[in-house]
Amino acid sequence: MAGLHVLDVACGHGRLTRELARRGADVAGIDISGNLISRDFDLVACSFGLSDIDDLDGAIRSISSALRPGASFAFSILHPCFAGGQDISGSWPAAGSYYEEGRWTAQEARSALRRQVGASHRMLSTYLGTLRRHDLWLEQIVEPVPAPDWARRTMLTASPSTSRPGPSRSSRANCLTCLMTSARS
Ligand SMILES: C[S@@+](CC[C@H](N)C(=O)[O-])C[C@H]1O[C@@H](n2cnc3c(N)ncnc32)[C@H](O)[C@@H]1O
Repeated sequence: MAGLHVLDVACGHGRLTRELARRGADVAGIDISGNLISRDFDLVACSFGLSDIDDLDGAIRSISSALRPGASFAFSILHPCFAGGQDISGSWPAAGSYYEEGRWTAQEARSALRRQVGASHRMLSTYLGTLRRHDLWLEQIVEPVPAPDWARRTMLTASPSTSRPGPSRSSRANCLTCLMTSARS
């Protein structure tokens, strides 16, 4: 990280921004009121921010144009195929399906933030297609295994009513992290 010029998109309180700075990056954080100005970032990072942004196409276009050619965009999101668990909402409404995209508000008790601000659900193909359209190519994709404690509390005790229609009933992954590379010249 030392010496890298990094932009943290949808930085919120700056949790990731501070960690990147602690690791030696020259880092800038923006949230909803900020604009992208520089076009020579080595890395743009976005930690659990893309589902807060309604205009995905516009955001990815701006992110892509903020990167120098060959630079990286790293992001994490709630896994779009996460079906939810005990007292925790999945990526789409209980009454809907993975294939229905759009803004929605979570209901489950432990989804405190998403009950307040909602989220935009998008299929994996929408994310990857949008990134590809703006010259961001997939370099690496990671689906970390949930921490044992979290999995035990939320997944293994899930009631039948939290099983949602869609491709993910067997999915336990709750996080998706992607590293994209700018193919712009
Ligand atoms: C779930 S928080 C994530 C905060 C932080 N990245 C973290 O990991 O702790 C999502 C953030 O996205 C911001 N946000 C929502 N819409 C945005 C937009 N259009 N452009 C930039 N930031 C936005 C919100 O203000 C909020 O701080």
